Amino acid sequence: MSPPPAVGAVFFDLFGTLLSLAPLDRVCDRIAPGRGGEIAERWRARQLEASWLRTSMERWADFDVVTRDAFVVALEELGIEPPPDIDAVAGAFLDLPLADGAADAVRRLREAGAEIGILTNASGRALEHVAARLDLRIDHLLSVDAAQRFKPHPGVYQLAVDATHLETGRIGFVTANGWDAAGAASFGFRVGWLRADPSARLPAVGVEGPMVVTWADLGHRFG
Ligand code: LAC
Repeated sequence: MSPPPAVGAVFFDLFGTLLSLAPLDRVCDRIAPGRGGEIAERWRARQLEASWLRTSMERWADFDVVTRDAFVVALEELGIEPPPDIDAVAGAFLDLPLADGAADAVRRLREAGAEIGILTNASGRALEHVAARLDLRIDHLLSVDAAQRFKPHPGVYQLAVDATHLETGRIGFVTANGWDAAGAASFGFRVGWLRADPSARLPAVGVEGPMVVTWADLGHRFG
C-alpha cells in the first residue's frame, strides 16, 4: 500500500491549542480568590456549549459575544458577583500566550513545505488581534465569521479547503479539543489530536481517524 500523500497545509485550532488556556485560572482568581480554576472551567464549558447550541439553533452571534455571555452566566451559576470591568476580563482570551512547543512545531512544519493556517471559532477581529502579537508566520487566518457557524459544523472546515484549494486528505488539522478532532476527521482532514489527558476519549459520534500527537512529534506525523 502506498503511503498517504504529504499534507500541503496544516491548520491549527486557536484557543486551548495554539494558545494556552491556563492563564484564565489566574485571571478568574482575581474575581473570587481560590475559585479561579472553577470559574475558568465553567466559563469554557458554557462558551463551547453555547457555540454548539447557537449553531444548531441557527442563532448566530460572533465568538466575542458568546464568550462574554458565557462568562456572565458562569458567574451567575457559581453565585459570584461580576467584576466592574467585565468586558476587560472577558477579553482575557485575546491575551493568552502560545502553548509550550507550539512555535517550534509550526516552524518545523513550515520548513517541511506545508502552508500554515489557523481555523478558529474566534471572531475575525479577535483573530487579527492575536495574530498580530504572535511571532509566527501564518499563511491563512480563517475565522468562523465567514461561515456564521461554529465548529464542528462542516461549513467551517470547508473554509480551509476554499482557502487552499487542496483536497481534504491533504489538509492536516491540529487541535487539543476531542470534539474538534472528531469534527475535522469526519470532514476528511488528517487530524492530530493533542490529547492532554491520556484517559480522554473522542466523543462517541462514530468517527475514527484522529492520530494522538504531541507538539514534539507533529513534524513527522504529517509527512
Ligand atoms: C477555537 C475554539 C475551539 O479556537 O476554542 O476554535
